[in-house]
Amino acid sequence: MKYTVGIDKMSFYTTNYVIDMSELARGRDMDVNKCKTGIGQEKMSIISPYEDVITMACEAANDILSEEDIPDIEMVLFATESGFDFSKSSGIYLHKLLHLKPNCRVLEIKQACYAATGALQMACDFVRSNNNKKCLVVSSDIAWYGFKTSGEITQGCGAVAMLVTSNPRICKVSQGHVFVNNVNDFYRPSYSHEPIVNGKLSIKTYLDILNKTMQKQKFSYFCFHMPFATMSDKANKTLGDNQISQEHLEIAKQFGKYVGNIYNGSLYLSLLSVLINEPKDLSKQDIGMFSYGSGSIGEFFSVTISESYKEILQSDVIKHRIERRKEISFEEYESMLSTFVERESSSNFMLESSLTPKYCKFILEKIENGHRYYKKSNEN
Ligand code: CAA
Repeated sequence: MKYTVGIDKMSFYTTNYVIDMSELARGRDMDVNKCKTGIGQEKMSIISPYEDVITMACEAANDILSEEDIPDIEMVLFATESGFDFSKSSGIYLHKLLHLKPNCRVLEIKQACYAATGALQMACDFVRSNNNKKCLVVSSDIAWYGFKTSGEITQGCGAVAMLVTSNPRICKVSQGHVFVNNVNDFYRPSYSHEPIVNGKLSIKTYLDILNKTMQKQKFSYFCFHMPFATMSDKANKTLGDNQISQEHLEIAKQFGKYVGNIYNGSLYLSLLSVLINEPKDLSKQDIGMFSYGSGSIGEFFSVTISESYKEILQSDVIKHRIERRKEISFEEYESMLSTFVERESSSNFMLESSLTPKYCKFILEKIENGHRYYKKSNEN
């Protein structure tokens, strides 16, 4: 029997705290137009002291998993470039928190912002050869560049979860066109908490690889890896006659403009932005997708939208997550990210925060000898 493979369920999570770019510009004494017009960003989500890449991934995955899925999930691929352990996979913590079965394989996948796409393609291959089984792909990242760096205006945090199955109800995923080239545009060696970035080279390499991988094909929608919103404008321009309309590009950028850079998940946040914010029915349409991970690798592929996507997506949950966030001041932003840096550099950390966890089910309680302890609450 012929079956298709792709994304059956999908969700997105971001934290409850957000800074407006005008507030960041005020604190840094910078022209706000550089952030809002030049970079195209309105806001960016900021990680709270009681959340990390694991809690965000669990929140997104918890939205989509039902009890019936658990016995069929034979593999978890956890894509991140903000991992805190060079040996133990972040997915092992998620496996426990989501009560996945003991014989489910768990791996952390890394290749800068490309890892989620590599994981998605590997998950599709896995399901092609095991069509009754399912694979959970999660991407979870905290984009942290450091205070007063040029990358500071391109930060954010969030997670995307995708359940990959046969006969998917959101979209079928095509096999892609890949190009790899060893470039030192963005990397984070083990001695550094912040990435080492050559911003201009990273933009040039991104666009070079887009040109090398894209196929001469007209799509009404195209989603790009979007570290900041105007990167999508630059990418769209290089498509020449195949570029999408400005109206469609704005829809593809909409969620990311208000969330900021979520590294691996940003391409998939753009896909969600199209599926949720485009009022017209997209069933049976092909959407072009471009994934880029510094270092560097790029992949162009497409997804074909299933007829049931609107019923399956929890659009209101995702929209509410973006709208409900609490605006923080520049001073609170510096304080929260200083706590994050201190926490990520500590072998022992006890959460002592004036902030009460809100709107989250999974909470980081403490770090002891480098091991993280979480608790699950009943929050909605
Ligand atoms: N009003 C309006 N526009 C302004 C402005 C103002 N006052 N001041 C500057 N601008 C415009 C500039 O003209 C520029 O636009 P163009 O790119 O169209 O020329 C834009 O705002 C940015 O200004 P600069 O180039 O001067 O900014 P910068 O060099 O200080 O930093 C950055 C920009 C390179 C993106 C930097 O934030 C950075 O390094 N970010 C991290 C790296 C990154 O995001 N790279 C993207 C590709 S790599 C990737 O995608 C992987 C990943 O996720 C990291």
